[in-house]
Amino acid sequence: MKLNTLLKYGLVLALPAISLVSCVSSGDNPGIEYAPNMYTSQAYEPFSQEKSFDYNPNGMTMRLPVNGTIARGQGGYIYPHANNGEGYEASASYTPWIAATESNVAEGERLYNIYCWHCHGKKGKNDGPIFKDKKMPGPSWPAYSSDYIKELPNGKIYHTITNGKGLMGSHSFMLNPEERWKVIHYVKSLAFGDDFKYAAEHSSANGDHGDMGSPQTSSANFPGTPEEKARIMTAMSKVDFKGLPNRKEMKSSSHSSLDEVAAYLSDHPDYKTTIVGHIGVTLTEEGAATLGIDRATKVINYLTSKGVKSSNLSARSDASIGREGEITSSEDRKSNRRVEIEIYK
Ligand code: HEC
Repeated sequence: MKLNTLLKYGLVLALPAISLVSCVSSGDNPGIEYAPNMYTSQAYEPFSQEKSFDYNPNGMTMRLPVNGTIARGQGGYIYPHANNGEGYEASASYTPWIAATESNVAEGERLYNIYCWHCHGKKGKNDGPIFKDKKMPGPSWPAYSSDYIKELPNGKIYHTITNGKGLMGSHSFMLNPEERWKVIHYVKSLAFGDDFKYAAEHSSANGDHGDMGSPQTSSANFPGTPEEKARIMTAMSKVDFKGLPNRKEMKSSSHSSLDEVAAYLSDHPDYKTTIVGHIGVTLTEEGAATLGIDRATKVINYLTSKGVKSSNLSARSDASIGREGEITSSEDRKSNRRVEIEIYK
């Protein structure tokens, strides 16, 4: 009798206690899990899960890439402008390296209809469901066809897509740099409608910088005379950088050529200039990712010190585009140390 009562009460008390204890997770004990495979993947996660040991001190299932590694297709991409108001203003002179060919614009349309239309509307009239249903206030301009967007430099749109602006978030994780330009060309095609000028289908991004199809373009639209263009291009071809270990430093023999460029740009304060730095090292080398931009920046600093308005100057790196040769001979290396200039209005 007594034993029975004890058991009865004991069970009544013990059951909830047992169930509580066994369900609660703590420390390394996950507690009772329903379908644990749903929580913890059977496959190894990259960069985690292994216990550290002598040969794998970081306990990772996958090694981190070597410093300076750049993902395939991202070689030319080091976006130089800071994510702030100043960077936004400077981005005005950041120029497309993807031409506004019909096929690129068509791909831009495809991407736009995935990532943008629900706010800006299929035709860029800010009548997508999010704006229409007042889930979020729309921009101050009514449509892409407004002068604001027509006159907005492509570089600023690039900055907005990359970093976001106001209530529009960054789209950089959805659109790679090439795709951003394609979407931008499509935005401009909606803005200009029938007046939009497509680039010829063969114009590629590689160096020739064919017609970029909108008012903001590169050296194909060099605003001066052909003679001036030839003179400036020749001067720039003489600008050279040192090899290792001072490869970010310009050779002093470059100064007289740059003086000529500086004088020309000072005489034309309405010209905008992008300096494109190339690199001549293997991409896995440390510091390679920023080398092109470092070199372009050196040139810009020099031009500014000679009185060129800094707001007219911007830098870009071109690590993959225009890389010449297999970088095995010293001649190849020299050609990849070059900086190029793009002048436009
Ligand atoms: C969630 C809604 C939303 C989505 C999605 C969105 N935008 Fe926007 N967009 C905005 C808002 C809001 C602004 C106004 C930002 C401001 O000026 O404060 C804006 C501004 C812009 C501007 C003007 C930028 C400038 O520099 O003034 C452009 C161009 C633009 N968007 C294009 C795009 C493109 C292209 C996409 C797709 C890749 C996109 N937007 C996706 C909400 C959105």
